[in-house]
Amino acid sequence: MASQTTKLSSFDDILEQAKTTYKGKFGSYPDIACCAPGRVNLIGEHVDYNDGFVLPMALPMVTVIVGSANRTNSKANIVTCCPEADEPKVIEFDTNTLQPGNPKWANYVKGVIANFGQPIPGFNAVIHSNVPVGGGLSSSAALEVSTLTFLQKLTGISLKTSGERALVCQKAEHTYAGMPCGIMDQLISVAGKLNNALLIDCRSLETVQIPFVAKDLAILICNSNVRHELSDSEYPTRRKQCTKAKELMGLNSYRDATEAHLSALNREEEILLKRARHVITEIKRTNEAAEALRQHNFKKMGELMTKSHISLRDDFEVSCKELDILVDSAINCSGVLGSRMTGGGFGGCTVTLVQQDSIESVIKRMRADFSKSFQNQQLDFYVCKPSDGARVL
Ligand code: ADP
Ligand code: GAL
Repeated sequence: MASQTTKLSSFDDILEQAKTTYKGKFGSYPDIACCAPGRVNLIGEHVDYNDGFVLPMALPMVTVIVGSANRTNSKANIVTCCPEADEPKVIEFDTNTLQPGNPKWANYVKGVIANFGQPIPGFNAVIHSNVPVGGGLSSSAALEVSTLTFLQKLTGISLKTSGERALVCQKAEHTYAGMPCGIMDQLISVAGKLNNALLIDCRSLETVQIPFVAKDLAILICNSNVRHELSDSEYPTRRKQCTKAKELMGLNSYRDATEAHLSALNREEEILLKRARHVITEIKRTNEAAEALRQHNFKKMGELMTKSHISLRDDFEVSCKELDILVDSAINCSGVLGSRMTGGGFGGCTVTLVQQDSIESVIKRMRADFSKSFQNQQLDFYVCKPSDGARVL
């Protein structure tokens, strides 16, 4: 049967295209080439900014940046080949006097330069990517982390730890893109490893690689290609609600919390109880999932993923009809061990743990079930294995 997954540009193609574009624009081939991946989170949603544990994996899809130092001035000249980026796709700015502005895509690059902590010489660069943009697979973190990797090579100055690198990129997103994200996306993009999921302790930024190879299983990502308006405003709202609930429980950190602490919230707004219950139970589920993965107990892993979705849907209220239909459809298929929304929510992707030989029938069923409610909405499917983090090419 023909595969029903979406064909993305290959790594070789985007790298080649970036180099050719560079030659066309700047007249020579680039000296430096780097890349950083997007990610899918297996479990541990909306807990990275709550001192929790998360368990993402890096994707084979990456953002590449190729370039060279410009020895005549301190200007950065950058081109993106990404069709979804806002116009103009070519920008020039001074690396000494940075300000967020338009085009918006350049803010991710500027933010990393501004937070690198060392002077950056002028440079020319071209960016290309095969990470789906705006779909919750962290194309923005991939752009930040590939930029950071490029700057390290350009300056010869390397930040020591994965945590330090991720923090620079997270700060870029906070200060230049205005998104108060947690640390997960940037840290997995830095520290992902082939055939491993990464357990991240978001309080200490310690990471543990957990081997994730199961020949007869696959990770199936379904991109709903929807993004509801709510996603930008609800994220900071959730952060505030979590902080408020934590304070009302008299806690300094969600890591000290158990479900017993929730009783302090019973008389308060029910919404805060629900938010806190998601955070506390999700941190527990993530630890259990890491243990299940270590023990190759994939059935348990799948069950925890589905429970995570229910909690995100009912308690954290960041799912949406599209994602709920996709998850419901998946978990009713034979060969599926578990399924959930992944990323910030209100659209984006689901992630499903599925038997390899059921992939085609599951995709077919998900498409059929989805089209009953959303006839004209295109779905994209990707089968991915855990891949490497950022690297110089
Ligand atoms: P995602 O879940 O993909 O990270 P976001 O909305 O957070 O979604 O980030 C997407 C934005 O990141 C794009 O609109 C664009 O501004 C920027 N971006 C991502 N990849 C690229 C790229 N290769 N070139 C230019 N901009 C990019
Ligand atoms: C993402 C955000 C991450 C994480 C996630 C929800 O969009 O960038 O830091 O909070 O949502 O788990």
